[in-house]
Amino acid sequence: MALIINSECVDIKDGACTTVCPVDCIYEGGRMFYIHPDECIECGICESICPVDAIRYDDEVSEDEAIFVQINREYFEPAVTGLGEPGGWNRLTTTDQDHPAVLALPRKKKEAEISQSKEEN
Ligand code: F3S
Repeated sequence: MALIINSECVDIKDGACTTVCPVDCIYEGGRMFYIHPDECIECGICESICPVDAIRYDDEVSEDEAIFVQINREYFEPAVTGLGEPGGWNRLTTTDQDHPAVLALPRKKKEAEISQSKEEN
């Protein structure tokens, strides 16, 4: 069991979770962060701090988000980043890469874009 990050993080990337993880198992990709399933010690601190509620225990995900258990795991495998098991985040493990299923998601509008389009209407 581990914690996973789901679609709520995509294009938000608040980053607060990375500041509290005691083992630095949260890695930065292009559009979201990913939790290493074998490095996570399941403490749950990150789950309580995420402002958009993007973090879950992998056995508590909804059916809609179940794919993100796989996405977090596959992110570290050769087919995506090939990071393997780095033993904790460091500057060299930050990439602009994402899992293909994340890349395929529609872009979320940023708050500034939303208020601009409201002003135009
Ligand atoms: Fe993403 Fe939430 Fe962390 S938005 S970067 S999972 S604090």
